Amino acid sequence: MLDRPDPATAAALARLYDLDLHDDPGDLDLYLALADRADGRILELAAGTGRLAVPLALAGHPVTAVDNDAAMLDRGRARASAVGLTPERLAFVEADLLELALPDAGTYAFAFIALNSIMLLATRERQRAAIRALATQLRPGGIAAVDAWLPDADDLARFDGRVFHEWIRTDPESGAHVTKTGSAVHDARVRIRQAAWSSRRQGCPGP
Ligand SMILES: C[S@@+](CC[C@H](N)C(=O)[O-])C[C@H]1O[C@@H](n2cnc3c(N)ncnc32)[C@H](O)[C@@H]1O
Repeated sequence: MLDRPDPATAAALARLYDLDLHDDPGDLDLYLALADRADGRILELAAGTGRLAVPLALAGHPVTAVDNDAAMLDRGRARASAVGLTPERLAFVEADLLELALPDAGTYAFAFIALNSIMLLATRERQRAAIRALATQLRPGGIAAVDAWLPDADDLARFDGRVFHEWIRTDPESGAHVTKTGSAVHDARVRIRQAAWSSRRQGCPGP
């Protein structure tokens, strides 16, 4: 497991996360529909900066958003308070999802792990434990959702170690121009993809 970055770097990474997610992955409608169907408390594990938790709470659902990255949660809290959401409507909880001890475990109507976050748990055992953690939080008949990308053969063939350019954007908070590049290698023998992304900033000092 990687060491935690220092707070300034963690804050910069959280800001870059939101800049990256500027391209809407288009998954919110799914979670809104499932939340309507579940009709009760919602739990998002690995909730990040509240990209999904905030609109779900704004739609009228009580939401608990768990993440183990304090800098991501800081941005989530700021995003929630900017639109007038109180902690009663949307509670952010700093915790490792594999070590959850929520007081209202077993009462959630809908619990989910979005946007490939389950892949950040690097072993099958940890991924199984995450799904168990999700199930434990649900009330009887509750809905669980895990969104994980299933690449096809063409996708995997592209992962041959070449560096690819993803985007250049202006960070609205710092004014810096940010370039995102990536590189990935797929090893078909062990069915593992190793990937690395980097962002390069130009035009402003600091992290
Ligand atoms: C790809 S982001 C997804 C954020 C959000 N769900 C979204 O869709 O925008 C993955 C998040 O998982 C969090 N995370 C990774 N491992 C975790 C763990 N063991 N416990 C809690 N959160 C974790 C990271 O801090 C990060 O915020």
